[in-house]
Amino acid sequence: MSTIKGSIVILDFGGQYAHLISSRVRRLGAFTQILEPETSAELLKDAAGIILSGGPQSVYDENSPKANPKIFDLGIPVLGICYGLQYITKVLGGEVSQGKVKEYGSAKLSIENTDVQITKDLPNEITVWMSHGDEATRLPEGFERFGTSDSCANAAFADVSRNFYAIQFHPEVTHTEHGNQILNNFVECCNTSGWSMNSYKENVSTEILKEVGDRNVFMLVSGGVDSSVAFTLLNNVLGADRVQGLLVDTGLMRKDEVAEVKDAFDKLGITNLRVEDASEEFFAKLEGVYEPEEKRKIIGQTFLDVQKRVSEQMGLSIEDGWILGQGTIYPDTIETGATKHADKIKTHHNRVDAVQKMIDEGLVIEPLKDLYKDEVRELGEELGLPHDFVWRHPFPGPGLGVRILCAEKVAFSPSDNAPVSLVPDENNKRVKTLPINSVGVQGDGRTYRLAQAMFSDERTPNEFAYRTAVSAVNSLVNINRMVFCTSHSEATKLKFTSGYITPERAELLREADAIADEEMKNAGLYEEIWQFPVVLLPFGENEGGQSIVLRPIDSKDAMSASAVVLPPDVLKKMTNRILDIEGIDMVFIDLTNKPPGTIEWE
Ligand code: XMP
Repeated sequence: MSTIKGSIVILDFGGQYAHLISSRVRRLGAFTQILEPETSAELLKDAAGIILSGGPQSVYDENSPKANPKIFDLGIPVLGICYGLQYITKVLGGEVSQGKVKEYGSAKLSIENTDVQITKDLPNEITVWMSHGDEATRLPEGFERFGTSDSCANAAFADVSRNFYAIQFHPEVTHTEHGNQILNNFVECCNTSGWSMNSYKENVSTEILKEVGDRNVFMLVSGGVDSSVAFTLLNNVLGADRVQGLLVDTGLMRKDEVAEVKDAFDKLGITNLRVEDASEEFFAKLEGVYEPEEKRKIIGQTFLDVQKRVSEQMGLSIEDGWILGQGTIYPDTIETGATKHADKIKTHHNRVDAVQKMIDEGLVIEPLKDLYKDEVRELGEELGLPHDFVWRHPFPGPGLGVRILCAEKVAFSPSDNAPVSLVPDENNKRVKTLPINSVGVQGDGRTYRLAQAMFSDERTPNEFAYRTAVSAVNSLVNINRMVFCTSHSEATKLKFTSGYITPERAELLREADAIADEEMKNAGLYEEIWQFPVVLLPFGENEGGQSIVLRPIDSKDAMSASAVVLPPDVLKKMTNRILDIEGIDMVFIDLTNKPPGTIEWE
């Protein structure tokens, strides 16, 4: 664990907001760490400040999370947010009760005393974001109220002599006006040692040297941002002789991706990256595989097999003094449940059991494990990687593999129970149910259902099409996706060809993906679009023909996403260029939000 000295520690009571608080405070120039509430006061004694986060429980629940009361004797500023306020109240002798009403959403906070440090530069009334059932009904001794709202009398109070602050609302969410100012006022109360990318780089370099000792580091470079930045940093600190990178070319990479990665490293004088072309092996293993999760498993396992074989060939074993480098970043460590009150979201592939065992044995170095994604990008630029390279859109680990839709037989035939259409469709010209299934998220879980396509003379979707997409997917039971055809005005007979992942299909998708990427960048849309999957479907107008789906989306965290409306001229140009690829005879754009459709089709 990195040093606590000079950091602001966030004790995570299990709310969903610990990361948000943490990244906001870092942006204000203080280093942060998220720790378990029970962390001992002894460990926290050198912290610059402590923030007690929100949490879903009531302080009176038997198993509700508790901090160590001795933290209040350390002489360190404390800020309690929501559950954190209630915890301070209870532990320091006040009273918490169930509020008369539960308060969720916006509220007006009147600030009654603007002399309290934390209210510096705030107006007398602000809109704040509340989410609570309990409230403080009697303040602990030494505390005075400085803010109140309609349904929560003691919405903000402080013991200024000890620098203890308690607020019922959430300053970390953007719905709270001046939330950043409030956090900044708290940071100013703390004696932080300051946090900048430069100081971080110095500290992490010292740590890398200490941790690696006289050993060397073998690093798997995927081509993605995190592993590329970690590899560059290790090279920078340890020197080329003590680092070896391996990039496995799966045959499912994007056009020119391997060359671009190599080129970015070459420009920095980094040449210790071996590229292993294992594409034939991947295609052989994926022959005849149609099931999406099975494909993912095979790709992951083949990756490990190749890595093991190559590292053995190169003599990079633990016995020979080599340890494993990984590009794990901060949220990956917390998502795996590093603090126990945070809900376990998913086990990250960098933290599967075998790797965890190696971590416990000190055989893994993860130099970016304290950084958020935007900080990794900043560090990458500081290390000399090109801006466009470190700001690339997120791309799934299995590469184009999850975008080559595989299907053995037609998912829907006219004899099946046809999904009805919501679109007026004289002579069956304007709507067509496609012969394939794709993945969605509907209600509580994943669905594997049909997609429907709309057609119109304009060949670009209008507002009506986007609206219809939402209502159709919500009301037609066996559909989870709506697309719009940008290559044809009327529904034609579709010819389905059974398809799994082949070099030929990968090549078709690679070309279409490169065109979409280029046109998006030419139109200046790259920063506006969060991710732009391009998907290959195993049917077309002609025998053996294939189709392409464009899937530009906007999102913050991939948990939910909305379909992006592309300017008609951009969409037309993409479509026309993609239709020029031999073997592609139809193009669609996906109009579905997430939920009900996932971002990827498989
Ligand atoms: P979905 O399709 O579930 O995707 O809406 C959410 C985000 O996760 C990415 N994704 C993956 N990333 N391995 C990865 O590393 C995978 O197997 C995988 N599948 C989906 C997807 O691109 C999106 O950003």
